[in-house]
Amino acid sequence: MAKSEKKTIVGSIHPDVLAFTVGRDPVLDMDLALWDCIATAAHVTMLSAMKKVKPAIFTARERDLVIQELCAVIGDVQSGSFSISEADQDVHLAVERRLTAVLGDLGRKVHTGRSRNDQVAVDIRLHMRDQILGMIGEVAQLARRLVTFGVRHAAVPMVGRTHLQPAMPSSLGLWATAWTESLLDDLFMVEAAYKLNDRCPLGSAASYGVPLPIDRRMTARLLGFEEPHHNVLHAANARGKIESVVLAACAQIMLTLSRMAEDLILFSMPEFGYFVLPPELCTGSSIMPQKYNPDVLELIRAKTAVVMGCADTVSTILKAMPGGYNRDLQDTKELYMEGMRTTRSSLRIMTLLVESLGICEAKLRDGFGSGVFATDKALELVAGGMPFRDAYQYVRAHLDELEQADPDAALSAKNHLGAPAGLDFAAYQERVKEVLAGVKSRRAASRRALRKVLRGFAKADI
Ligand code: ARG
Repeated sequence: MAKSEKKTIVGSIHPDVLAFTVGRDPVLDMDLALWDCIATAAHVTMLSAMKKVKPAIFTARERDLVIQELCAVIGDVQSGSFSISEADQDVHLAVERRLTAVLGDLGRKVHTGRSRNDQVAVDIRLHMRDQILGMIGEVAQLARRLVTFGVRHAAVPMVGRTHLQPAMPSSLGLWATAWTESLLDDLFMVEAAYKLNDRCPLGSAASYGVPLPIDRRMTARLLGFEEPHHNVLHAANARGKIESVVLAACAQIMLTLSRMAEDLILFSMPEFGYFVLPPELCTGSSIMPQKYNPDVLELIRAKTAVVMGCADTVSTILKAMPGGYNRDLQDTKELYMEGMRTTRSSLRIMTLLVESLGICEAKLRDGFGSGVFATDKALELVAGGMPFRDAYQYVRAHLDELEQADPDAALSAKNHLGAPAGLDFAAYQERVKEVLAGVKSRRAASRRALRKVLRGFAKADI
């Protein structure tokens, strides 16, 4: 072997080419290691159940030996003693190398009827299931905090603004639960992503299936997927698409967080002073001793751009990619992981912030100049029989005569569905509860399926 070649499980490769193509996989794939072992256990179980193949690729006992060793790998992953080398290229070959080192031929057989292409696709789907459920739970926690905040300050007046100019009487309850409802709406996108993700790509192999009587329904069921993808080429082509859908859902959540962050930054400025950010959640300045800065919120604003960028980059990678597996897909992995991690950490930090967000009711009330009541005044004239356009013109012509009205009375008069005095806080609480229950039952079902695949050999909880 020439010096300029490096030996790998799948042949000798120029070291620079190896480094370039492997990229950050040895690090990123550590997050896939658990899922890779579980998916391999399902694949081996299916191979061992292929009655028509004689002699059996794996006997029941051999299957158990492989799964036992896969569980030992999972233990090493969890204790931090598993690693992926550059020569391994990725987690898939690292696990195969380990199985071969310990079990010999049994390790050399695990790749029968599959490719790294469907292997990484299934790993990512298992990773996504776990991450999406985690994210839904975090969205629900933030939504819940916002409802609590809204209930606590339901009747506290806040100037409603359009174009940032004072517009109409509003309340903190309306402000807070507007973000609750936005987050709950965002979950429709997340649920669509969850559903798309709930199909197993295993059996696609390199992209075109294999000449073996593999049971794709069985592996899908073992791994807790609703069903396998039908068309094996589509199963391969769907990699990247699903990442782009998940990231689009993350981007919607981030858009909600970013706009909410912007409100909080603005209305906690001393000039407004509506909100009080607890000092321990602010950061200081190295030169100006008086500073308590809303860095968390500014970073949420910036990270929204990052997540939107991840979503855009993934679809741009896919745009001109031909059908079937292409290595371009490897680069969608990091973008998905970064976008997901960023969205989830933003959700958690925003929840912390809302939990201890203070308000200054006096400042909120101070914001009510007489103009805020102009529309209410026009509607008062309408109640006396004047057509609205005439009432509007009248009030517009007599703005300097407008009197300071009572914000509390103005708020309680807005009692139709969804208005400041017509908010159904209990319905929000109910929806949040349903979301959390949905996460719990899906998590439990997934865990049950995955534990069963590992046949009780896993030491730690999965
Ligand atoms: N690390 C690769 C990826 O993420 C695994 C699949 C490699 N397949 C291949 N044919 N080179 O896509």
